[in-house]
Amino acid sequence: MATNRTFTMLKPDAVGAGNTGAITKMIEEAGFRIIAMKKTKLSEELAGRFYEVHKERPFYGELCKYMSSGAIVPMILEKENAVEDFRKLIGATDPKKAAPGTVRALFAKSIDANAIHGSDSDTNAEIEGSFFFSQFERF
Ligand code: RTP
Ligand code: MG
Repeated sequence: MATNRTFTMLKPDAVGAGNTGAITKMIEEAGFRIIAMKKTKLSEELAGRFYEVHKERPFYGELCKYMSSGAIVPMILEKENAVEDFRKLIGATDPKKAAPGTVRALFAKSIDANAIHGSDSDTNAEIEGSFFFSQFERF
């Protein structure tokens, strides 16, 4: 069943390059409502916990280092069919393969510095949103 919520995080390259506003505008114009949002920074250990599902992947260490290298902007978003529609909006993991007009095609620098995260399932959207936001930070 398609849920109406997903979780996203603007990554250090996007935030550092001053693209927070431009990407947030794209997200809102695509019909997503922002339920929760903040600017914060992960320690390497916290990034490790967030990306625990990728622990066995060869890029895990680099990923955790990268994701703790600068400020990030996590958000919970709402829209019908949110998870799937948001993955379409952000485009493929590797910006070279991302469809034209997607967030990653427009803003990502590389497969690591790929501007944005989007949850890959309803279950993970709930887990990831709860990693950053309490019940009282959702509007
Ligand atoms: P994300 O979780 O950040 O939305 O990205 P994704 O679903 O498109 O990709 P995923 O497979 O979940 O990988 C998480 C992040 O790890 C980095 N990665 N590097 N070097 C590589 O082969 C490689 N593969 C993935 C990317 O930064 C990716 O966003
Ligand atoms: Mg993923």
